Amino acid sequence: MFTINEKNFKIDTKNTSYIIGVSPFGHLLNYYYGAKIDDQDYFPFVKQKYACASGTTTNYNERDYAYSLDLMFQEIATVGKGDYKEPSLVIDNGKDYILDLQYHSHVVNEKHQRLETLPSFYKDMEELVITLKDTALDIFVELHYLVDYENDVLARNIVVINKMQNPVYLERALSFNLDMVNKQFELITLFGGWGFEGQKSKVLLDHNIYVNDSKTGNSSNRHNPFFALKRKDTTFNVGDAYAFNLVYSGNHRETVEHSNFGNVRIQSGINPYCFRYCLNADERFETPFAVMTYSQNGTNGVSQNMHEFVKEYVQHKNVCAPILINNWEATYMNFKTPTLHKIIDAAKDLKLEMFVLDDGWFGRRKDDFNGLGDYDVNTKKLRGGLKAIANYANGKKMKFGLWFEPEMVNVNSRLYETHPDWVLRSQDRDPAYCRHQLVLDLSKKEVQDYIIENVNKILDSYHIEYVKWDMNRHISDVSSTERHAGEIYHRYIVGLYRVFREIVLTHPKVFFEGCASGGNRFDLGILSYFDQIWTSDDTDAYERISIQSGYSMGYPLKCLSNHVSADISHSALRHSPIDTRFNVACFGSLGYEMDLSTLLPVEKKAVKEQIRFYKAHRKLIKDGTFYQLKDMREDKIAMWLVVSKDKKEAILGYFNGLQTLNPSIDEIKLVGLDENAKYSFQVRPQSHSIQKFGSLINLILPVRVNERGFLVRTISKYKTIDGEAENYVISGKALHSGALKLDQQWMGTGLGNDVRVLGDFGSRLYYLKAIEETQEN
Ligand code: DGJ
Repeated sequence: MFTINEKNFKIDTKNTSYIIGVSPFGHLLNYYYGAKIDDQDYFPFVKQKYACASGTTTNYNERDYAYSLDLMFQEIATVGKGDYKEPSLVIDNGKDYILDLQYHSHVVNEKHQRLETLPSFYKDMEELVITLKDTALDIFVELHYLVDYENDVLARNIVVINKMQNPVYLERALSFNLDMVNKQFELITLFGGWGFEGQKSKVLLDHNIYVNDSKTGNSSNRHNPFFALKRKDTTFNVGDAYAFNLVYSGNHRETVEHSNFGNVRIQSGINPYCFRYCLNADERFETPFAVMTYSQNGTNGVSQNMHEFVKEYVQHKNVCAPILINNWEATYMNFKTPTLHKIIDAAKDLKLEMFVLDDGWFGRRKDDFNGLGDYDVNTKKLRGGLKAIANYANGKKMKFGLWFEPEMVNVNSRLYETHPDWVLRSQDRDPAYCRHQLVLDLSKKEVQDYIIENVNKILDSYHIEYVKWDMNRHISDVSSTERHAGEIYHRYIVGLYRVFREIVLTHPKVFFEGCASGGNRFDLGILSYFDQIWTSDDTDAYERISIQSGYSMGYPLKCLSNHVSADISHSALRHSPIDTRFNVACFGSLGYEMDLSTLLPVEKKAVKEQIRFYKAHRKLIKDGTFYQLKDMREDKIAMWLVVSKDKKEAILGYFNGLQTLNPSIDEIKLVGLDENAKYSFQVRPQSHSIQKFGSLINLILPVRVNERGFLVRTISKYKTIDGEAENYVISGKALHSGALKLDQQWMGTGLGNDVRVLGDFGSRLYYLKAIEETQEN
């Protein structure tokens, strides 16, 4: 909602206000961003608070000693007029870099204008467009402000228009600039690497420039574009927090600069690294949308705003993925039809819903060195081809899904043999390889067309209801036979989005999962087309807790694709209980990735129960409100809660790190429930393997046994020991107050019905349901 008073603009959402206005010299300034304020309180804000400039600041105009752009809170920051902080727009106009943008006009559009080259939200948003013009040159810049009123989210971007006769060169074109007073901010970013994505980094701002960026060609597993700023004393649920993200899948850069005046400058956009974009006469350059939100309800508050926004505006369908079995960690590329049949049969028996055939089904693909780029089905591995395996799954009433890696090529492939010039590389040097593959030059239209044609052909020839779109390397050797070097990274992404539009949007019934060696491209650009993203190749449950905890700060649970994998985990070589593997994976979109045909009878029983539980509650997980309550790194345990929108149901996850012998009593203090309701609070029944207790088993048996012997091993295939049955009826108010204490944990001294045996990496799920009060007559 916009309130416009001459050249001052108040942008309101349900709980926030964002106030900007034109200064006496025509610059667009920011006056306020935070909790909602009334319209009558609006005027006191419409002023910058500086009465005289500080020493060594540069006056913008000799007439006004107080007006220095270094001190003004600007909505766009340029070069040449005395602002010495990070600029958000830098243009080489052929003579110099000076750019002085002043108010030109504004317009409000009921429905926002869609970008031509980049994703731009499916649902209409009201939009304010303020156009600025350089004082000397015919360079125009549109600043777009889009409003999601209900979820307290604003989207911003800029469009640069060259109305001169000669070209200019963009060297930096970030999507937004936001200046505000530092409020003892801590900056939270998500860093990582392969198998280690989404790790939270937290730093209290000092007088520095903080850069969070990617130079890998994709949004990267190293630094995700999501970031948050919170006051030092802000907690998960209480206090001021801001969060930001970028709808872009390529190199990005977020900057937070803490100035000498105690202000912060916040920016995000396309990374200026190796970026120099030629804007010819009459051309426009669109920057990706950035999104931002504010909440007084702590980091959970901003996360929840982002989650709802992503589901409602970024994604074109809000659907639940079928529970799938993926053959990757079960077989890798070494499979043949009978092995796959066995896996499908076992999955059918356990009531899974879809079989996904991963890497290795095509061309010469027997290992990492071969085949990428080709689309002919390998009938030596797959008897009867894709049709037969899809029919087999369908015959078992399971859907069929298929893996692709369309952006890549192996030298040993028909594609490379025919089109060696289609890869990104310099013609004068040998290219660098990663996973023995090269990257196709998606800035070229014919390469985009090749991918579109071949993927669509496969999708239209078989009954494929799900696609896993992989991308297994960082980009190197950024050189193209057609493009100027400074444009390639960006044009690759623009080409990629065209490919997505032509494949994904023309197959609305197919479910798409993004993947890039796990979460190497986990961003809002991908989620503008894909329904979910493979969170990480690390499927170890304990590692996944920090990965999912990080990514769920910015992305809804339903977009996190999580699999229960084998014991021992292939990634961390760690043993963790099958129930923990499920309890972690179920906070997202659930799948299994192991040879289900080799499960022991007790494991089969556990998996059947998991599937039943997930089917019963997946809508709650997809649509509910997610809260993080404890953080593994800081609290040594993790606790996650998801509450249904009507507050009638919730699932609480409790995750142990390492077992200690002196555990404190676990106090359960929840949020988001109905204080006036009574809830049944029930542990999801779990049981322990007999072998979990080692030789302690002899303390309870009448005869002595060898705990590693044949007898114990055989019995443990069929029998388990029941875990505690911890159930309560308790009010929402008491749950909010922390009155509920869970049963004591194992302390190494005794086992009883009311002892919670978690052990290393143990976990529990609790299901809460509001109960109807029985009327007493
Ligand atoms: C990387 C993915 O993250 C894995 O799940 C698997 O699909 C492999 N690629 C296949 O090459």
